[in-house]
Amino acid sequence: MADPEYRRDLYRGAAADYDRFRVPYPPALIGDLLARTGVRGGGRLLDLACGTGQIAFAMRKAFAEVWAVDQEPDMVAFARAKAAGGIRCVAAAAEEVDLPDAALDLVAIGNAFHRLRRDAVAGRVFRWLRPGGCLALLWSDAPHLGDAPWQRALAATFDRWTPPGRVPQGWDEPQRARPDVEVLRAAGFVAEGRHSFPTPHRWTIEGLTGFAYSMSGLSRAALGEHAARFERELADTLRGHALDQTIDFAYELARKPVPPLQ
Ligand SMILES: C[S@@+](CC[C@H](N)C(=O)[O-])C[C@H]1O[C@@H](n2cnc3c(N)ncnc32)[C@H](O)[C@@H]1O
Repeated sequence: MADPEYRRDLYRGAAADYDRFRVPYPPALIGDLLARTGVRGGGRLLDLACGTGQIAFAMRKAFAEVWAVDQEPDMVAFARAKAAGGIRCVAAAAEEVDLPDAALDLVAIGNAFHRLRRDAVAGRVFRWLRPGGCLALLWSDAPHLGDAPWQRALAATFDRWTPPGRVPQGWDEPQRARPDVEVLRAAGFVAEGRHSFPTPHRWTIEGLTGFAYSMSGLSRAALGEHAARFERELADTLRGHALDQTIDFAYELARKPVPPLQ
């Protein structure tokens, strides 16, 4: 089953909401990932499909050089302005960006691998990594995907307002049929496990509205003139609920093997 094709402009105009309202990866996850990869204050990180640089900024101090690549120019411009020169930000698709072989110590892809042509990108990342280097796929649960009554109500509101066609039909089926770890193994990686960091979070109505605007299906651009009505309905839906979620932050780690000495 082929990976789904997404439009390339789904996050247009969403960078400021994305940067402000996405809950950051917890420091415990970042520290654990750095420890497992063996990074010690040198080397080169690539934050691929970086958005506004959620991983790049969290890890920049641990690397001599940080590169951040995203196909959406708005996202890259936002990250570049925030980095003020400290991060090399490039607007390009993961499937097309031109990077040197064996130049990277860690490639991290946050909440985005399902949007990429997974086999092609895993193969490219394998080439870009030095032997012993790592690929990490970071994930976090979205607030509307749980079973609490407010989460079900939120999911129903999101469904009602997402314009048709923005999210490809059956977008999650290829990943379910062939899990990421199989894709990584097929590219030559050795899988080193999934590491989970459940983190309690209390949302506010403002936070969930901002989260909605950070999504590809419900950005201010996607909602257009309907945004004000959407906000009112969302507030009516959520008022009176304790908006508590334990967000499952996790990463899947894979390593490029070091060839045996001859
Ligand atoms: C949900 S956001 C994730 C942003 C950030 N990595 C994070 O962890 O929060 C998905 C990002 O993937 C980017 N993206 C989607 N397809 C891409 C591709 N083929 N090449 C590069 N970036 C891509 C989008 O532009 C968007 O910024």
